[in-house]
Amino acid sequence: MIKILLIHGPNLNLLGKRSPDIYGTASLDDINARMQSLAREGGAELRAFQANGEGALIDAIHDAENWADGIVINPGAYAHYSYAIRDALASVKVPAIEVHLSNIYAREEFRQHSVVSPVVAGCISGLGWRSYACGIQAMIGILQDRQADK
Ligand code: DQA
Repeated sequence: MIKILLIHGPNLNLLGKRSPDIYGTASLDDINARMQSLAREGGAELRAFQANGEGALIDAIHDAENWADGIVINPGAYAHYSYAIRDALASVKVPAIEVHLSNIYAREEFRQHSVVSPVVAGCISGLGWRSYACGIQAMIGILQDRQADK
């Protein structure tokens, strides 16, 4: 069975309460529950993890190599400046997809650049919780293609 790690970065524990006009009204639990059922429908197992600190996120990325086939990650603000998270994603053999709830390209200048994007398979931004859904579905498809190619 395909195993996916869903990672949420800093401040995403506040989803639903934090700037709902930008990030939507779904809580982190709501999003995780939706992604769990989406993964199940696609024949995949999903584990979700959220942390506010860079080190815990990096440890989770490293640990993914022990069990996960793919990573879907919303790095939060770390997307814009964390070379350490970028390096962690580049260091593991597990493919990753970056997601953002908001359209980072339509926001403040500092949000318009992601240092993570160059080391992931792709980036989905601006579709609210559906960015996660697209990321999970795309990751399942990518991993199924890989298995079929073997
Ligand atoms: C975000 C965008 C980031 O700029 C911001 O710091 C977040 C959330 C998003 O999902 O739209 O925390 O990653």
